[in-house]
Amino acid sequence: MATLKDLAARKPVLATIRLIVPAGAARPAPPVGPALGFYRLNLMAFCKDFNARTQKYKAETPMQVTLTAYKDSTFEFVVKSPSVSWFLKKAAGIDTASSRPGHNNVSSLTLRHVYEIAKLKQADPFCKHMSLEALCKSIIGTANSMGIEIVKDL
Ligand SMILES: *[C@@H]1O[C@H](CO)[C@@H](O)[C@H](O)[C@H]1NC(C)=O
Repeated sequence: MATLKDLAARKPVLATIRLIVPAGAARPAPPVGPALGFYRLNLMAFCKDFNARTQKYKAETPMQVTLTAYKDSTFEFVVKSPSVSWFLKKAAGIDTASSRPGHNNVSSLTLRHVYEIAKLKQADPFCKHMSLEALCKSIIGTANSMGIEIVKDL
């Protein structure tokens, strides 16, 4: 028997739409309104679902949405949080990474920051099978390559 996922995969696709939408703040206004309206998709249903799914992120976090619109006016979407470097810069309160990481560190963060970013990243479609430990290691690697030193306590 075909699963729902198989059936969905067979539906004729009308378009794939990519949008950046602030967490918890999808509204029937640009850019969301016109993009979904153009394909006659249920705008209010999208806003409600997106806002529910992105509740746990801080307001204004720029979420990356990839929406698949089907010919029967139904749709599906996946939401991805911003890059690890975006979260690290926000947490450290810096705009740019160090030009000489390791020699000239621009900031320090604690393991707690790393852990919080890892928990948010784990909600991403491509990270959900990664352990928190693996995510933390990868985040520490990114931090070090940006000149952000990770310490136990500040
Ligand atoms: C910068 O951070 C790295 C990695 O966290 C550390 O090994 C290095 O000693 C730091 N460099 C300076 C100059 O503080």
